[in-house]
Amino acid sequence: MKIHLLVCLLLLALFTACKQETPTPASPDPKADPHSFAQPNLAVAKHLDLSLKVDFDQKTLSGTAAWTIENPGKASEIIFDTDNLDIQKITLGKEAKEAKFHLVAPDSVLGSALRVAIEPTTDLVTIHYATRSDAAALGWMEPSMTVGKKLPFLFTQGQAILTRSWIPCQDSPGNRITYNANIEVPTGMMAVMSAENPQQISPDGKYSFKMDLPIAPYLIALAVGDIAFKPISGRTGVYAEPVMLEKVAWEFADMEKMVVAAESLYGPYAWGRFDVIVLPTGFPFGGMENPKLTFATPTVIAGDRSLVSLVAHELAHSWSGNLVTNATWADFWLNEGFTVYFERRIMEALYGWDFAEMQDELEYHELLAEMEDLDSSDTQLKIDLIGRSPDDGSSMVPYQKGSMFLRMLEQKTDRGKWDAFLKSWFETNKFTSKTTEDFLAFLQKNYLDKYQVTANVEEWVYKPGIPANCPVPQSGKLAAAKKAADNIANGFPDTNNWTPQEWVHFIRSLPENAEVATFKKLDEKFHLTQSTNAQIQLAWYEVSIRHGYVTEILPQVEDYLVKVGRRYLVLAVYRALKETGHVEDARRIFAKAKPGYHAVSWGSVEELLK
Ligand code: BES
Ligand code: ZN
Repeated sequence: MKIHLLVCLLLLALFTACKQETPTPASPDPKADPHSFAQPNLAVAKHLDLSLKVDFDQKTLSGTAAWTIENPGKASEIIFDTDNLDIQKITLGKEAKEAKFHLVAPDSVLGSALRVAIEPTTDLVTIHYATRSDAAALGWMEPSMTVGKKLPFLFTQGQAILTRSWIPCQDSPGNRITYNANIEVPTGMMAVMSAENPQQISPDGKYSFKMDLPIAPYLIALAVGDIAFKPISGRTGVYAEPVMLEKVAWEFADMEKMVVAAESLYGPYAWGRFDVIVLPTGFPFGGMENPKLTFATPTVIAGDRSLVSLVAHELAHSWSGNLVTNATWADFWLNEGFTVYFERRIMEALYGWDFAEMQDELEYHELLAEMEDLDSSDTQLKIDLIGRSPDDGSSMVPYQKGSMFLRMLEQKTDRGKWDAFLKSWFETNKFTSKTTEDFLAFLQKNYLDKYQVTANVEEWVYKPGIPANCPVPQSGKLAAAKKAADNIANGFPDTNNWTPQEWVHFIRSLPENAEVATFKKLDEKFHLTQSTNAQIQLAWYEVSIRHGYVTEILPQVEDYLVKVGRRYLVLAVYRALKETGHVEDARRIFAKAKPGYHAVSWGSVEELLK
């Protein structure tokens, strides 16, 4: 093995002698992706045959990624993105002729370009490799971090640029690929992917998958564990650990209704099935829209269906994100702003205007709060990410400001015209990746000019802050909750039938000078510290800590931070502890919680507490 590597290295020295060392990713072309080394305009990887074995003891995946490539310009090399991969051997064609390759020294954000010498007729490049135990995309959960506590669990997270840490690929959202996969797992476990999925355990631990619609590489996903399936309707269903399955199916009972509502807005659902898998608590996000199979945090299983807007959100990505994809991460608002707008429309269709408006207003306040801490240039919808991590662009701005931009445009005409316009955007551009500028040109021609309306589009997209013509969401229920908070000195409100959203707004609206005694009394009456709703817990712990009500609730806060791994739910609580002089507590709790966190979460917390 070592000798083999040496030979490779020698060959490589020859191969690279007359080439530039690192391909330069940055370019003024808006279609060019500064977060990928691949140059698909030269040689492009179109289809992946993935064959991997999952080893829970070593925490590795090993096998082959066989790429069917196209090389119309007869380039002499093809470039892949990799990050922290152990590349063992690369062969060309069916005859498996050994190829020369060079793994360029890594960039701390982008990983390493893998440059493979090819021949003019090469149509297949097979990469033999293994992942490392600390691969950024992979969440290896010990049995103790699952609900069942018997078997370990693995999930992947590809967005934004993590797929390259488990599959060598041309990792840009501007590229689309199809894939087949053979995945071998320990017997007794199920494997599922963003593809056609099994509904039962395979006795020999071998699973085959097919995704024959072109998707961006960040949407390739895999989960392995003690997983069972339960259908909701003919084309929707849920996957979860068996002990949770019934609860999950109850919580997400409206999945079919959501798909029906979404289709009636923006056209047919393109992906066949729509299933959701609820993962262990270590999953770092609320949800991830992997095609055919959304990945979700267990923190949305509130027991009262109050947090199902997350399912509407990930479903909406089946149009905005998966069907029409942001061409680069600077165009991220095209994915998320459209999706939040669309999520609200689905929620309105199912649960009424009031509920959707309440969610919209809550997130509008979150946006305003977050914007106070952002550099002003990061409050533009299209932002400059050259030389930065795509994560730097992931704030409430692309989400909520993006959604409000679309709502403003909607109000320029009426929903009949606007919905028809959006439907045509998806229909015209399905299975392609688009830039902000592509959208703005389409908007001008097919909406603004067509209906002879004008709008301050440039200001919304390329200028910081919130334009004066922003439609401000106004929920009557939230106004009442705020009033109750303003009047807290005069007594407690009647909270019967309050939704978690009203509770969150009430808590966040408590007066700045509210005393610890008030928090104690609220806790005695409403048992907020003991809440099992993650959104209420987040708001209550954060606000309590900032008001000095800390030692009393610290054991529960600790329990929460250890049990919950979703970055958004833990980061704000750690920050509150840090900023109120409890950084030592924060560090102690983090040391205990870290083994249960995915790299995405612990990376952010570590950065905060360093
Ligand atoms: N696609 C995102 C998650 C994401 C964004 C992962 C950027 C990595 C980089 C997903 O659709 C999302 O927005 N999830 C939200 C929940 C949603 C209901 C707003 C989340 O995880 O908090
Ligand atoms: Zn999203």
